[in-house]
Parts: sequence; structure tokens; C-alpha cells
Amino acid sequence: FRIAVFASGNGSNFQALVDAVAAGKLNVTIELLVCDRPQAAVIQRAQKAGIDVFAFRPKEYASREAYETEIVRELDRRGIDLIVLAGYMRILTETIVNPYYGRMINIHPSLLPSFPGVRAIEQAWEHGVKTTGVTVHYVDGGLDSGPIITQRPVEVREEDTLETLETAIHAVEHELLPYTVGLISAGRVRLEDRRVYIARV
Ligand code: GRF
Repeated sequence: FRIAVFASGNGSNFQALVDAVAAGKLNVTIELLVCDRPQAAVIQRAQKAGIDVFAFRPKEYASREAYETEIVRELDRRGIDLIVLAGYMRILTETIVNPYYGRMINIHPSLLPSFPGVRAIEQAWEHGVKTTGVTVHYVDGGLDSGPIITQRPVEVREEDTLETLETAIHAVEHELLPYTVGLISAGRVRLEDRRVYIARV
């Protein structure tokens, strides 16, 4: 089962996948990292793990469609079964979303549909919610809007600060993402009419 990970920054979720594979907890091959920021720390993580990188500068392309077409060609060529968006900070268009619908997931640091978008943890914190969490969902054309696969709650404690809450959420992400990729790679996840069903073992 061959996956490609898309990431733009630090790459701690990418690292969680690499570590789960190395520990024998996740039976997939990480074929490729796709990164839209050639200076991002995640690229060094991939190089260290011996994983191929497709890095590009969006500005060097005439349009989104132009670089997405190139990415799709690369994914198809490698026979990618699943795309994992892990901190990829760019909206994808139908050039990728259509051919890979049902084969592309995203991790998001809130309990969707609450707090979509890039400031999810801060917004949950500012709102004063008592429970937030992490969601992994299929990607459709919208912003953090596709069918939900898995979620985990994270309690906001009175002694928390934004920073400790962020740390707690990231720790849960690093568990939930490899777990969910494992479910999909084991063929236990079925998407039907925008609802997700997980087979018990
Ligand atoms: C994570 O919080 C992820 O949920 C969000 O972006 C962040 C990426 O962090 N979409 P990292 O690059 O994986 O460390």
C-alpha cells in the first residue's frame, strides 16, 4: 500500500508516519513527500528517512492547474493508493481532488465541523470550548469539509494555555493519523454517499 504525504512546514505528522512504519506499526510504503516550500523542515525529515521528495515553488508555474497536473502525473506514475495531507497549506483544485476523491485524506486539529481553516486551535481556545480534538477526513473540494473518518476528543483543562493545548492536540494527531492510515490500508474503511463506515475486526 503506497502513500504520498503532502506537507508544507514542520512535518511532525509526516514524522509520526515515518516512525510508525519504522516501528512496524504501520504496514505501508511512504513513496513520496510533496512539498510546496523548498525550505520547509519536513524536507530534511524526508531526506533523513530516505523518502523521495517532490518540492516545487508555486510561483514558478503559470497556474495552480499547471503544478497540480505535474503532481498528479507523479502520483499516477508511482501508483499511489492514498494521499495524506498533513499540514499542507494550500487549497487543492479539482485537478487533484477529482481523480483522487476517496483516496485522499487530511488531518485537522479540531473536531470538525467546528473551526475549519488554518487557525483551528487558536479559535477553539479563544472560543473557550471545553472539548476540542482532532479529525481525519476525506478531502473534497471545500475547506476541511469532506466526509469524516476518525475523530479524537481533547479536553481543554483550566490549567491549559494555548501552548499546552497545542502540544496536547499535536500528540493526539501523531497517534490518530498513523492509526487512520492503518485502517485504510487494511481495507477497513468504506466511503459511501459521503458517509464513512469502519469494519470491525
Ligand atoms: C497540524 O496541526 C495539522 O493538523 C494541520 O497543520 C499542522 C501541521 O503540523 N493541518 P506538522 O507540520 O505536521 O508538524
